[in-house]
Amino acid sequence: MKNFKQIISKLISENIDIDEKEIYMYIEMPKDSKNGDYSFPCFKLAKELKKAPPVIAQELKEKLDEKIADISDIEKVDIVGGYLNFYISPISFTNEVLNEFETQPKIGSSKIGEGKKIVIDYSAPNIAKQFHIGHLRSTVIGGALYRIYQHLGYTVIGINHIGDYGTQFGKLIEGYKMWGSEYDIEKDPINELTKIYVRISDLCKKDEKVLQACRDNFKKLEDGDEYCVSLWTRFRNLSLTEFQKVYDLLGSKFDSWNGEAFYSDKMPEIISILEKTGKLEESQGARIINLEDKGINTPCIIEKTNGSTTYATRDLAAIVYRARNYDFDKALYVVSYEQTLHFKQVFEVAKLLGLDEKYTKGLEHVSFGMVLLPTGKMSTRDGNVISLDDLLKESISRARDIIEEKNPSLEGKDEISKKVGIGAIIFNDLANSRVKDEIFDWNQILNFQGETGPYIQYTFVRTQSILEKAGIKDAPDLKSVKPEILQDMYAQDIIKLLYDFTDVLIQVTDKNEPSILSRYLIELSKAFSVFYNENKIMADDEDVRNSRIYLTYAVRKSFETRC
Ligand code: ARG
Repeated sequence: MKNFKQIISKLISENIDIDEKEIYMYIEMPKDSKNGDYSFPCFKLAKELKKAPPVIAQELKEKLDEKIADISDIEKVDIVGGYLNFYISPISFTNEVLNEFETQPKIGSSKIGEGKKIVIDYSAPNIAKQFHIGHLRSTVIGGALYRIYQHLGYTVIGINHIGDYGTQFGKLIEGYKMWGSEYDIEKDPINELTKIYVRISDLCKKDEKVLQACRDNFKKLEDGDEYCVSLWTRFRNLSLTEFQKVYDLLGSKFDSWNGEAFYSDKMPEIISILEKTGKLEESQGARIINLEDKGINTPCIIEKTNGSTTYATRDLAAIVYRARNYDFDKALYVVSYEQTLHFKQVFEVAKLLGLDEKYTKGLEHVSFGMVLLPTGKMSTRDGNVISLDDLLKESISRARDIIEEKNPSLEGKDEISKKVGIGAIIFNDLANSRVKDEIFDWNQILNFQGETGPYIQYTFVRTQSILEKAGIKDAPDLKSVKPEILQDMYAQDIIKLLYDFTDVLIQVTDKNEPSILSRYLIELSKAFSVFYNENKIMADDEDVRNSRIYLTYAVRKSFETRC
């Protein structure tokens, strides 16, 4: 596809002697199409050119007016305030989009990421604990980023950094040793293990000796003690089988399941590097890195009093491992904002590990807000938890109720309830800017008329049924389309959106913000809905009909895009 933004950047740069890339960065897309398709804010150059923005705009317009007379893609340039607004000819947009759908098998894809590697650390539930709604957000946001990066040509490595290590396993082992026979952990692993965990934690609070035994267990586990390792392996496998049920429902996949324990034999190297830096300090029996001079008041604990490692040490070992094995350009950590301090500390200490700057600069915490019930925080302690498995099942059953009410004779109700119920939950997690806390409200999530997953699915199905009625199986014939028919504002709104698809995906990766794509899909659904209501698709005139059918096909194809 012709890149109009680039054509404009080039044109401007040739006429004011400023680097094309710089211009490209400044060009905006006006929200209101009255202000053109692309807009160049001249005030960005005021300092550099030592001229007032309206003067720059005027001078540029005079030069460009002459040039664009020969460029059929650009209709006109005008000035509004310090902005230079460019109007692309609608027929050019139309031709570009039609051509793209005809020739490009993967709509929206790009080569921008070729040769670059992105590691995404996401999901990462903890063994023997509930896979909770925060892990769901991580799984969904991480999974979306994974596919979007891949679509743009990046090599992506998705890692499920399972929480399978730490003192809690010492507790669990102790609890199991004491009361294992009372619990059926094969039947209902997570719940039974959680019960043991709660019980032993209570005992630890009362009995210092038990607490010590738990700590020792974890140390033994790290040292490879046979009994501890075998119990740990059993807990881990049982938990992973449970988690897989959720991943199957969500369609989540990972390239690596290296959890925290994987790094247990890689920790000594980290500690020895840190020792050599002279920054590793003793503090009340533990070993820490003080980060006060970096503006972080809480030190990073590297080794606890009994010599066992911490969550942070394991993350440090993981950074070194990932740098060596994946040679990443970016390593993203899709984890709740509650861990902001942890990642600040870890990324700062990582700079002491002697890695190439490329790696430490590529580390990024992609944080997200909490999921709140209308009644407040969901937490693991106060019993206000919703297990993820239950949540997904409830969504499916609510979707089913809606179908029973609205369309009881629908075929394939089981399959459709599943798609709608799960789609609704996934979309809800992606719909708002990720840093915002999210209020989990069933009425909103499953509202077919709202800005929701079901609304997008509904639009998709509608395009599908129009195409079926028109007898289109694969793709309609582009030769039957007359671009000049698609010049009305309703068709043009869709065409502009379709043209922007790749750009939207690039914006997602610039900010690691999938909600930009969600917003876009809502806009596209709305634009299609207006188009459908205003323009009769199955028109009597054959050319009109064929052209509108093709546009419907293009919308469907965009919705269908997957890697
Ligand atoms: N297991 C952790 C938790 O549930 C999240 C791990 C995130 N990834 C990481 N590399 N620290 O809180």
